[in-house]
This record gives sequence, C-alpha cells and structure tokens, in this order.
Amino acid sequence: MTRASSQGLSFESVAAGYAAHRPSYPSALLDVVEELAGFSLAGARVADVGAGTGLGTRVLAERGARVVGVEPGQEMAARFRIGLPEVPLVLGDGNALPLGSSSLDLVTYAQSWHWTEPRRSVPEALRVLRPGGALALWWNDSDGGVPWVAGQDARLRRLFGGGDGAYDPEARFRRLPDELPFVRWQVRWSRSVSLDAHLANLATYSDFLVLGEEGTNRFLAEEREILAGVFPDGTVREEYVVSLAVAVR
Ligand SMILES: C[S@@+](CC[C@H](N)C(=O)[O-])C[C@H]1O[C@@H](n2cnc3c(N)ncnc32)[C@H](O)[C@@H]1O
Repeated sequence: MTRASSQGLSFESVAAGYAAHRPSYPSALLDVVEELAGFSLAGARVADVGAGTGLGTRVLAERGARVVGVEPGQEMAARFRIGLPEVPLVLGDGNALPLGSSSLDLVTYAQSWHWTEPRRSVPEALRVLRPGGALALWWNDSDGGVPWVAGQDARLRRLFGGGDGAYDPEARFRRLPDELPFVRWQVRWSRSVSLDAHLANLATYSDFLVLGEEGTNRFLAEEREILAGVFPDGTVREEYVVSLAVAVR
C-alpha cells in the first residue's frame, strides 16, 4: 500500500465525526456541474467515487441523479449506509472501478480524487463514462484569504510542515491531470457553527488522523483558546472555497 493510499484510508477511524461535522456543498456547485457537463442531473447515471459518508452523494441524489456510491473504506461505507439507506453503494476504489464500461453519464469525486493514482484513475474514469459523459472533481477548502483562516493555516503548517506559507487558491487546479480538457470554476461560501463543532470538524482532517490523539488534543486545546478570542460569542464563521474541475469525454 502506498503512503497516499494508507493515509486515504485513515478516515476510517473518524467516520462518525466526519458524518456529523464535515460541511456539505453549496447548491451553486451542482448548478455549475450541470452547466459544464452539458446535461441535467435529474435521471443521470452517476457514480460518486470516494463517496465517504455520502456528503457529495446526497446532494447529487437530491437533484434526481441515479447515483451509486463507490467507497474503499468499510467504516465510511457503514456510515453512508446509515445516512443514505436508499442509495446503492459498492466497496471499491477509483483506481479499479467496480463498474461497467460506458455505463455512466457522470463520474464525481468530492474531495477524493487526490487519493487516487491518476495513471490508473484517469483511464478508469474514461472507461466507465459514455462518450459525451463527464468527470467532475471538486474540493472544499478553507479560504486562506480570510485573516483568521490564514492564522490557523500557519499554525497547522507549523504542526505538520508543508508549503511555503503563501496561500494559493489555485493549488487544487495545479495538480489536475493534463491529458483531460478540464474547465475550472470556484465559489466562496461560509457557514456558522459552534466552536466545539468547528474543532470537531478540524479533527476529521487526514493529517490529524495520522498525528494521533495526544498531539491532536494538544493542538485543539490551543486552538480553542485562540478562536475564543476571535469569536467571543462562541460561533465560528467557517469560510470556504470550492474548486471544481469538469472534463467531458
Ligand atoms: C475527504 S473524504 C471525501 C468523502 C466524500 N466524498 C465527501 O464529500 O465528504 C475522502 C474519501 O476518499 C476515500 N478514498 C481513499 N482512497 C481512495 C481511492 N483510491 N479511491 C477512491 N476513494 C478513496 C476515503 O476512504 C474517503 O472516504
């Protein structure tokens, strides 16, 4: 197992927290998926790969898509089944999709494409899509252009390392496979949650899962103090940017 694939499966240990605290996606995202794919989601045959607890799958199903979830992690899959009992889910992996050739209108990866190996996941997505079908990849990231988020990002970098410190809103787009004709789009949005819920959400990010309980608890306690100063009423305004890339086969 590669380092990326073992870290990709680290969500297993926090499936319940993930289902409870990670944010969903703004409805504008689904409008643009339809626009860039060139067809309506209603009735479309869709596979949501790396479906996790079903956050992306749910918004696709709400648009009337005939969606199947694909997820490699047993615990994430179990949470998916609790939350979306009426939606089919298969255990599987973006590098070897358990789906028929030319069987789908749309393949989506909601915050999961980066866990795949593109030399395998690109041909797999193209195999299962019908001609004219679309591959849609999206990520929801904290908006590092907002001062308090930039401060938290700097503290996270001190803990985990990585990056030169400059916020790059295009970072997700820089790692797209060049062989596909991706069209890119972004939207900023926010949600307000309690400080407890914000910290519980933070703890579901994969770096923390690898760091372990002691280091995570220490960081979260310090973060609680800092953010109580920024948000004295105890409500944190989380600021996000969604990055979407769609390629039509
Ligand atoms: C950040 S979560 C995203 C879950 C969900 N799509 C959402 O919108 O919340 C990443 C998911 O990718 C899954 N994953 C890890 N490696 C994968 C792979 N090679 N192919 C597909 N999914 C993978 C993980 O198990 C996890 O459920």
